[in-house]
Amino acid sequence: MSKNKMPSGLKEPQLTRNAEIVLKKRYLRKGPNGESIEDIKGLFWRVASSVAKEEQKYEASPYNWEELAKIFYEMITSFKFLPNSPTLMNAGTKLGQLAACFVLPVEDSMEAIFDALKYAALIHKSGGGTGFSFSRLRPKNSRVGSTGGVASGPVSFMKIFNTATEQVKQGGTRRGANMGILRVDHPDILDFIKAKERDGELNNFNLSVALTEDFIQAVEKDEEYELVSPHRKEVKGKLKAREVFSLLVQKAWESGDPGIIFLDRINRDNPTPKQGEIESTNPCGEQPLLPYEACNLGSINLAKFYDPKKQDINWQELKTTIHLAVRFLDNVIDASKYPLPQITEKVHLNRKIGLGVMGWADLLFQLKVPYNSQQALKLAEQVMSFIQTESKAASKCLAQERGPFPAYKESIYYEKKLGPYRNATTTTIAPTGTLSIIAACSSGIEPLFALSFVRNVMDGETLVEVNPYFESVLKQKGLYSPKLMEEVAKKGSIQKLDFIPEEIKRVFVTAMDIEPEYHLKMQAAFQKYTDNAVSKTVNLPNSATQEDIWNIYWLAYELGCKGVTVYRDGCKNAQVLCTGKAD
Ligand code: CDP
Repeated sequence: MSKNKMPSGLKEPQLTRNAEIVLKKRYLRKGPNGESIEDIKGLFWRVASSVAKEEQKYEASPYNWEELAKIFYEMITSFKFLPNSPTLMNAGTKLGQLAACFVLPVEDSMEAIFDALKYAALIHKSGGGTGFSFSRLRPKNSRVGSTGGVASGPVSFMKIFNTATEQVKQGGTRRGANMGILRVDHPDILDFIKAKERDGELNNFNLSVALTEDFIQAVEKDEEYELVSPHRKEVKGKLKAREVFSLLVQKAWESGDPGIIFLDRINRDNPTPKQGEIESTNPCGEQPLLPYEACNLGSINLAKFYDPKKQDINWQELKTTIHLAVRFLDNVIDASKYPLPQITEKVHLNRKIGLGVMGWADLLFQLKVPYNSQQALKLAEQVMSFIQTESKAASKCLAQERGPFPAYKESIYYEKKLGPYRNATTTTIAPTGTLSIIAACSSGIEPLFALSFVRNVMDGETLVEVNPYFESVLKQKGLYSPKLMEEVAKKGSIQKLDFIPEEIKRVFVTAMDIEPEYHLKMQAAFQKYTDNAVSKTVNLPNSATQEDIWNIYWLAYELGCKGVTVYRDGCKNAQVLCTGKAD
């Protein structure tokens, strides 16, 4: 428990029932017999105060840490900003691991593979998710020098990582998540693309194929491309690029996996290329990282920045929150205890943070702007460019106060004479899967999955939710009734309900009502002003064809996205969110 005494007069957080359930079940500190040893107010104070306390290290800080702790507490409990789950769970505790995202290297030796496995277990235990590129492993059936035997290949080793993950529940609160990446020019690429075709296989992994510019050009020109064995740099064969791309599309159509990442594009934005190449992202794809790097994320809840008097965004308040959030996240780097010395070193060298947003769909509802409109895309760019600019300004201020990140002189900021920053990156858009339940807002930049729906939280437990903005608009028009909510929950969408006025239908669109192009354009609009990447799923109806997915993957490339994930409704993997089709 935090030793920082709670001052009197702190406001009680206003929580929805769902938020309360999640917090009690997964976030409150537990004693030896599983009993809670703090209440929800205590949890938020533990987080705010332990992170604010880091301020004491910096002589030039303009804040008294206890005052700052109250300011952080207010920012968090008003749900204007939330740090990622590990920070909520572990700040001010003995474990003290506060980052959500890690990338580990997997080198081509037995020893190194099993080191990575052990490191992953330690990270999962502390609440973090791990990404790995398996591209450095020699292909299956290559000779193994020491034994004269043959190598098992990346996919076979991934199964061991998957099983280990199954056994290590994250601090008893969440199961570990993994990202597995393979370069498209690895000789085992076809096995990798098909690795999840059997149900339940690699269920603790998201998979992404790392596409190179060369490969994309080969698809465009309908040419072959070379497969290169990583350990000897030997050309092992050739494949027709379009055939590989079409298999990729087919598997994504069947199960949602694999997604794709644009590796060269990610590396073009690598702020510290002298430290090597980025080869992987974290599990949900929003955070490309160097080997042994970790990143802590935080999300601003845009739903809280609507000013009903001006019927506009409260830009001033948003600016204040961005600056405070950057300070908070920079303090989290120091407050966190990392599971390996290599990680501590790397994190302190680059000091990456990832500030993003949630509640985007809710903000659009309040502004009465349809998600699938030019106006929404314009607004997305306006909001994210504001966050990007202000987060950079905040990081610059911190650099003056605390010094730039130690690797600054070998970064692109130095080379491009952009000036010293405290953090090698400042922005990332996370999925906010649980944070959005706690803050009772729409997740990340996603549209609502349904206006009223059933959410599978964990262990088969379900929660029913009705979007509050939808509810309030219906009430204003005298159209609200529990029966209608049932109908909406069954259908997911209101587009075919006759008794709902057009103007409401236009604004209250859900994921399945939105054309896939708009999903992608929204992702691209946010990506334009985000240092790291954007977590987004392009939701498709069950009737979507493989050609549709081909076009989406291609458009993602053309629009400048760093990767893309599709999900076709009703395809075989279990859905985290589902419409409450009760019939
Ligand atoms: O909302 P919350 O902070 O819990 O997490 P999120 O925004 O949905 O996911 C952010 C990142 O946390 C993911 O990309 C993973 O790196 C990590 N994560 C994980 O390790 N295990 C999970 N079960 C969920 C998320």
